[in-house]
Amino acid sequence: MISIRDLDKELVLKILKKSEEMHSLLKKKGKVNVLADKVLATLFFEPSTRTKLSFQTAIKRLGGRIIEISDVKTTSMAKGENISDTVKIVEKYADLIVIRHPLEGSARYVSEITKIPVINGGDGANQHPTQTLLDLFAVKNFGGDIKNQKVALVGDLRHARTMRSLAYSLAMFGAEMILVSPEGLRMSKEYVNEIKRKFSPTIRETSSLEKGVADSDILYVCRIQKERFADPYEAKRLQKAYKIDLDLLEKHAKPDLFILHPLPKTSEIDPAVDNTKYAKYFEQASFGVPVRMALISLLMKNE
Ligand code: NCD
Repeated sequence: MISIRDLDKELVLKILKKSEEMHSLLKKKGKVNVLADKVLATLFFEPSTRTKLSFQTAIKRLGGRIIEISDVKTTSMAKGENISDTVKIVEKYADLIVIRHPLEGSARYVSEITKIPVINGGDGANQHPTQTLLDLFAVKNFGGDIKNQKVALVGDLRHARTMRSLAYSLAMFGAEMILVSPEGLRMSKEYVNEIKRKFSPTIRETSSLEKGVADSDILYVCRIQKERFADPYEAKRLQKAYKIDLDLLEKHAKPDLFILHPLPKTSEIDPAVDNTKYAKYFEQASFGVPVRMALISLLMKNE
């Protein structure tokens, strides 16, 4: 599970169906002991709250266990060991690896040197496929059929891997998209063209937040990915470019519009929005557990 481009519609639908099952089993019983004693290794070389904790919760609620690297300084990589030797050892201890790493292509590389399944928990500005699966689950849950949605992707579309993975799959399902970002933070042309070539989606770009809000059913917002900027002052400047607040929503939003966000959020959404009907992002994050349970169980049982 390295890139959303590796999955076709049929497979995504299968994972979403299994996620639905996990979601209702979790609500009824709190756990599903189908993977007793399977060990998941979470190797995180970049900060994470939701991705790491929801993967760890998911395997535990499936009856399995975890081993983890959360801080490279506490491993032998701090002594100069390379990632390839590290992975060759981890595969002897664990049944499945989730890796997050700042380098694009890192998860693919790891998947090529190990025999056990590898899940990409985010590789630099490239891909974050499991976030997209939970995003699609949230879209279905709150909005219904994915293909009937008009989604505005708002924020740092240049650096956010969540946006790249999501844009691809929304196009695959035939949803309409508005890409809303300041000039310098547009999604790469190459990537947008790849999506256009493959799926011929209805997609347009604008830098007007008001237009994005007014024309969409769903706002999918992300923060400025400041750690991926060469110039920290530029990140700070752009952080002020967009702010979603109640005034904007009340003036421009359709009555049923809702907001998703992969989190963490910083200053792009006014906290006053958190307690309104628009905000679905905290509930969205809760779907990380059933969706990742579904994924792990499909990967482990080769269904
Ligand atoms: C995102 C990530 O790490 O790409 N977070 C997440 O996994 N939910 C989003 C971000 O960092 O902005």
